Parts: sequence; structure tokens; C-alpha cells
Amino acid sequence: MLVKPALFCALVALVASKSSPSVTFKNVLVSGYSMYTYKFNVTIKSSNNLKENLPKQVFDRLDIINSEIPVLYKNSISDLEDLDELIFANNELSDIQPGAFKNVPQLRKLEIRNNKLEEIKAGVFNNLNIATLDLSNNSISTIASGAFDDMPELLNVNLADNRVKIWNKNWFANTPLLARVSFQNNLIEEIPSNAFRHFQGEKQFGSVPLTINIVLSHNLIKHIHNDAFKGLEKINNLWLDGNELSEWDENLLTGVSVHDLRIDNNKLECLDGNLDKVFVAATTHIDGNPWDCGCLKNIDLWASKATQHVVMIYSKMNCDAERIARKLDALDLRLKELRKNNTDVM
Ligand SMILES: *[C@@H]1O[C@H](CO)[C@@H](O)[C@H](O)[C@H]1NC(C)=O
Ligand SMILES: *[C@@H]1O[C@H](CO)[C@@H](O)[C@H](O)[C@H]1NC(C)=O
Ligand SMILES: *[C@@H]1O[C@H](CO)[C@@H](O)[C@H](O)[C@H]1NC(C)=O
Repeated sequence: MLVKPALFCALVALVASKSSPSVTFKNVLVSGYSMYTYKFNVTIKSSNNLKENLPKQVFDRLDIINSEIPVLYKNSISDLEDLDELIFANNELSDIQPGAFKNVPQLRKLEIRNNKLEEIKAGVFNNLNIATLDLSNNSISTIASGAFDDMPELLNVNLADNRVKIWNKNWFANTPLLARVSFQNNLIEEIPSNAFRHFQGEKQFGSVPLTINIVLSHNLIKHIHNDAFKGLEKINNLWLDGNELSEWDENLLTGVSVHDLRIDNNKLECLDGNLDKVFVAATTHIDGNPWDCGCLKNIDLWASKATQHVVMIYSKMNCDAERIARKLDALDLRLKELRKNNTDVM
């Protein structure tokens, strides 16, 4: 009966872990800076609140890097009135409780990259004044529908290198300044209708006009709904390179002015339809697709007369090489035949 003691130990361990007090900071090193100048390093032995453990010194940035912090509990980062930037990287963080951040009115930049987050719950980031939120390189697969709602200063969200599968069109309600979303290297398969409905409208940061940048490179996107971009007037960069697109509807970008469209490295063989409607972007990148060479020739002809720029250098080279190879093969065949005819004669 060796099973029983093992089971008992496991049970004790389970109970112990369940009943262990929820402490956020345990042997955690915090570095403080002010105006890019180093101010202090402190090690927090065991505490649930960051502020209580910081020296009475002026700082505007805190770095917490390479510590072990599995959970950010409620109120763990609170009442830091002058904090402008928090870098929270490589801490093996796997959960943030709603209410973890509270009363951080000056916080503009929040980086929680290179951690182990799997889920972003509602109530973690809502109503914060941050401009830049970096959640890149976690394992995020679930993002609550309202996770990023009501963030009046949010300009830039980075969710690159995660495991997001589904784009939710309800994200980002009441984020009037949001101008850049980076979702490269995720597992998104589809862009639904009205996917960017909360990105609509003119955006202005002080006197600087903002244009939207949507980065969805290197996902698994196979399908884009015909109304996916509906309601958007102007996009600066729309990057969909490195996906699984095998078709591109001529009406996808009707009425949208796009500066730089990347659909290179997909599965496009041909673009049917009216090329005037397909190529609305000032520059469209289409290299790295398995183009049908006849189809590519048409695109090349169209592009030579248009003001829009179509980047297709390598595809053209491939098709030229293919044509030359075909000609060489034909020549080879003729030579063989000729030799054969000559020997037949002799
Ligand atoms: C403070 O801690 C950081 C992070 O470990 C370290 O790189 C830095 O050298 C420390 N600075 C001082 C002055 O001890
Ligand atoms: C991603 O995060 C892990 C730690 O979770 C780190 O080891 C790795 O170097 C990071 N990758 C990049 C590209 O930063
Ligand atoms: C070789 O001979 C065949 C049959 O006589 C003829 O049809 C063909 O055109 C010849 N090929 C060449 C390359 O002269």
C-alpha cells in the first residue's frame, strides 16, 4: 500500500497551497528611476502592497524584472501617485486579479511582457489612464469582451506573441485614442464583420492627428468577412502578411484609404475582380504568394499604369525564371529529338 501515503502527501500539499496566504511580493527586487536616472533598489521580503515597501524618494518609473510573482493580487499596485512607467517583465506571472492596479493616475506605460498570462479578465485595466499597454510574449488565449473598455488615453496595445485565436469585435469600447493594435504571432483564424467598429472616428492627440495601425501579421487568418473593415475611413498600416489568405474580395477596402497594405506571404494565386478596387492602398505588398503567373502579369500591367505601388519584385522574378525554365525545357526536348532523328538517319 504505497499509494496511500503518496496520496496523503499530495493532499497535504494541496491543502497547504490552498491555505497559504496570498502574497504578491516575496523576495522581489524593485528598481526605481526618476527622469531616467537610477534612484534605488529595494528587495521586498514578503508583502501584498508595493507602495508600503518603497523608500520615500521621488521616482517615476519602477522596474520589476526576473523575479517570481505568480499572481498580482487585488490592490497590490496601488496609490502610486507619481508613477509614470511600470516595467514588469520575466516574472512568471500567470494571473492578474481584477483591481490589482488602483489609484495610479499618472501611469502612462505599463509593460507586462515575457510572462505566463493565459487570460485577461475584465476589471484589470479598465479606467486606467495608460497610453501604452504591452502584454506581448505571454500565453494569452482568452481576453474578456470588456477587458480594454473605457480606457480614455489608450493609444497603443501590444499583444504580439500570444495564443489569441478569436478576434472579438466588442473589444476596445470607449478607447477614443486607440491608434495601434499589434497582434502579430497569434492564432487568429478569422476577421469577423465590423471587427474594428470601436476604432471609428477621427483621432487626435493634442494637435497631432492619429491614424490607425492594425498589425495582424503571422496569424492563421483564412477568412476576412466582407464587412470586416466597415466604418473605417483611414488606415495607416494594415498588415496581414504571413497568414493563410487564399482570396481577397475586391470590396474589402471600399471607402477606406490605406497607406500600406501587406498581404505578402499568404496563399493567393490570383486576384479576381476589378484591380482598381483591389489595390486601394498607396502601397500593397504581394510577394511570397503562390501566384499564377498569368494572373501576376495582369497585375503587373495594371500597376504599370496606376499611381498605386504594388511590391511584387520576387514574384515577378519567380515567374520570369519559370518562363525561362520552360523555354529551356522545350529547347532541351527539341535537341534530344534532333539527335534522335540524326541517329535514326544514320
Ligand atoms: C539594481 O538592480 C538592477 C536589477 O537587478 C541591477 O541591474 C542594478 O545593477 C542594480 N543597481 C544598483 C546600483 O545596485
Ligand atoms: C518570451 O518570454 C520568455 C519568458 O516567459 C523568455 O524566456 C523569452 O526569451 C521571451 N521571448 C522573447 C522573444 O522575448
Ligand atoms: C524528328 O522527326 C520527326 C518524325 O520524322 C519529326 O516530326 C520531327 O519534327 C523531327 N524533329 C526535329 C527536331 O527535326
